[in-house]
Amino acid sequence: MSKKIYARERIHAIGGYTPGEQLTGRRIVKLNTNENPYPPSPAVGQALHGLDWENLRRYPDPTGKSLRDKAAEVFGIPASRILCGNGSDDLLTIALRTFVGEGEAYAYPEPSYSLYPVLADLQGASKRPFQLTDDFELPDDLLSQAADAKLLMLARPNAPTGNATPRKQLRELCRQFPGVVWIDEAYADFADDNCLDFVDEFPNVVVSRTFSKSYALAGLRLGLAFAQENLIEEMLKLKDSYNTDRIAQTLGTAALGDQQWLRETCAKVRATRAWTANELTSLGWQVLPSQANFLLAKPAHRPADELFAKLRERGLLVRYFALPRIDQFLRITIGTDAEMRELLDALAELDR
Ligand SMILES: Cc1ncc(COP(=O)(O)O)c(C=O)c1O
Repeated sequence: MSKKIYARERIHAIGGYTPGEQLTGRRIVKLNTNENPYPPSPAVGQALHGLDWENLRRYPDPTGKSLRDKAAEVFGIPASRILCGNGSDDLLTIALRTFVGEGEAYAYPEPSYSLYPVLADLQGASKRPFQLTDDFELPDDLLSQAADAKLLMLARPNAPTGNATPRKQLRELCRQFPGVVWIDEAYADFADDNCLDFVDEFPNVVVSRTFSKSYALAGLRLGLAFAQENLIEEMLKLKDSYNTDRIAQTLGTAALGDQQWLRETCAKVRATRAWTANELTSLGWQVLPSQANFLLAKPAHRPADELFAKLRERGLLVRYFALPRIDQFLRITIGTDAEMRELLDALAELDR
C-alpha cells in the first residue's frame, strides 16, 4: 500500500539538497567539503573555555549584537548593515524568502553551488539558470537572460569551478541589474580580491561570508551578510528569532579578533593550492585556475567517477558531481601538505 503524502506537493516532488559525505569511524583524508585542514584560531579555543555555560539558560541576543560590532570594526561596515546567519546557507534561505515571491524569477549560474536551485524549488520560485561560458565565466547576454529576475545569485569565487568573475565585469552587472545581486563570498578570503565594497556603492547588492572555510569553523554554523540598511531590515523580518546561538556569537567574535591567524592560514592554503595544482599538472591533469580552497581538475587517464570510487576505498575523500559539464572532473579541497602528498601519491598509482 502506498503511503499517504502529507507534505506539500512541491516539497514532496523535490529531492532536496545532498551535502557532501561526513564519514566517521575510520581514518579519512577529508578533501570533499572545502573545510579548513587546520584547527581554528587558538583565540576560539580560549573563548570556548572561558564561556559562561550557566548563561546558556538565557536566549542569545537575537541579532548577535557583539558579533556584529566586532564585524563592523573588522570589515569597516556599520553593524546596522550586517546580518548574522546560522551558516551562510541560512542567509541564502533568508535571501530567497525575502526577495523572491512564489512564481517570481530567480537567476543563478550553472555550474555553481548546488544548493541554489534547491532553494528555488523550496520557495516555489521560477528558476532562471544560465550557463557559464566554456571558461566558466558569466555569459555576455546574462542581463537579457535574467531580465525579470528578482534575485541573481552568484558565488565569487564560484564553486565548484574556483574562478572569480573580474570585479569590473561584476560591478557593471550590479549597476545594470534591476533586482538584487547576491554575491556569495564563501571563499573570498582565499582569493586575490573581493567585492565587499560593492555594498557601499550599490543599493541592490548583498555580500555574504562564512566562518566555515577560512575561519575553520564549519562545525559552528555562522555566516554574515552585508548590505545597505533597508535590505538588512527586510531580511531581519524573515530570520528565525534566534538564528545564531550564544556559543556561535561568542566564538565568532573571538575568531574575527584574530585576523593575523586568518591571514597566515589562508596564505598556507594558497601556497598548498599552487603546489598541488603544479603537481597535478605534471601528472597530466587539466587543472582549472582557482581562487578558492579547492581545485576542479580533470584526470589524465581514468574517468573521474572511477577515480573517485578508488580513492574513497583508500579513505581519500574528494567530491564528484554527476552533472553536465563537470562530470569529467574531481573537486579536491586543499588539505595540509601531507594530505595532498598522500592524495598525489595515490593518484600517480591509480590514474594510469
Ligand atoms: C558557494 C558556497 N556558499 C555557501 C556555502 C555554505 O556555507 P555555510 O557553511 O556557511 O553554510 C558553501 C559551502 O560549501 C559554498 O560552497
